[in-house]
Amino acid sequence: MDRVVLGRTGLSVSVAGLGGGGFSQLGLSTGKTPAEAAALVRRAVELRVNFIDTAESYGTEETIREGLRGVPRDAVVLSTKKSAWKNGGPVTAAELVAGLEASLTRLGTDHVDVYHLHGLSPGAYDHAVAEWVPTLQRLKRQGKIRWIGVTESFEKDRGHAMLARAIPDGWPDVVMVGFNILNPSARERVLAPAAAKGIGTLAMFVVRTAFSRPARLTEILADLQDRGILGPGLDPGDDPLGFVTREGGAASLAEAAYRFCRHEPGIHVTLFGTGDTGHLEANVRSLSGPPLPALVLDRLRSAFGAVDDVSGQ
Ligand SMILES: NC(=O)c1ccc[n+]([C@@H]2O[C@H](COP(=O)([O-])OP(=O)(O)OC[C@H]3O[C@@H](n4cnc5c(N)ncnc54)[C@H](OP(=O)(O)O)[C@@H]3O)[C@@H](O)[C@H]2O)c1
Repeated sequence: MDRVVLGRTGLSVSVAGLGGGGFSQLGLSTGKTPAEAAALVRRAVELRVNFIDTAESYGTEETIREGLRGVPRDAVVLSTKKSAWKNGGPVTAAELVAGLEASLTRLGTDHVDVYHLHGLSPGAYDHAVAEWVPTLQRLKRQGKIRWIGVTESFEKDRGHAMLARAIPDGWPDVVMVGFNILNPSARERVLAPAAAKGIGTLAMFVVRTAFSRPARLTEILADLQDRGILGPGLDPGDDPLGFVTREGGAASLAEAAYRFCRHEPGIHVTLFGTGDTGHLEANVRSLSGPPLPALVLDRLRSAFGAVDDVSGQ
């Protein structure tokens, strides 16, 4: 498992990051027991995944604590988050602090490595800068947070409007951004400006539904075609992305999607969410695999280079 430096944080992180959210929530939302979910976390660490992401809202912080029992605290980079919006209104600074304290308790630690504002919308951005960022900066000075992060709400903010403000403003040390084969618009709008500021990047939505459920991919491609957004380059017929696995030497589109992201310049950690140990092991292999061939990347760029309004959900 390759390691990279997470931008200006200086943290040494595995290029594969285990996500505790998404549809699987480490298996807790797909029928696995808490013990099985904790074993999945442990297996990830055995496979040298050292970046683990969760959130107050996922309900997986305690599972991660269980999975990491006996693992030295400094052997993993823990990332968690709080949605700063509830019941239609902003949380107070005191609630943000209380949220962090509760996460620390559930995770069984006295500090998190990256603490994010979770799913910050463009509409809440000014409030975040005025109210929450100073609170996060204070928590950072106190050592409870090592680095400040922000995650976008990619399902709605598919063109990265929030991060297009946050990155030039420079306050986040780390950003979490939606990036995948179907919507690579973060390339110019997020990854390049983040690199210029030394901001660490975490990619989400890399496989999501589009590359784990073939029927959903068919629907998304038909919609892009109908709206005239799809460029040339796909295979004719009923397997338009067949060339990606065939010429990319990938066993599945999920493998190709993870390799696509892993080798995108400017992305540090590719997050994957799963509750399935077989998928975990396959994803670690994929994220240790080679880039897709240049000809495949060229065709993908030609087909999807102008897409900025699908998430792959
Ligand atoms: N705004 C935010 O802050 C935000 C939003 C979304 C996600 N995230 C973070 O990003 C992480 C990744 O989330 P994501 O949902 O976007 O993850 P993802 O890795 O793009 O997609 C995960 C989905 O694909 C399936 N899958 C995983 N590996 C597979 C494989 N090898 N073959 C077939 N299917 C596979 C999983 O189901 P199985 O359980 O069956 O494997 C799950 O349904 C989350 O866990 C969370 O930590 C953050």
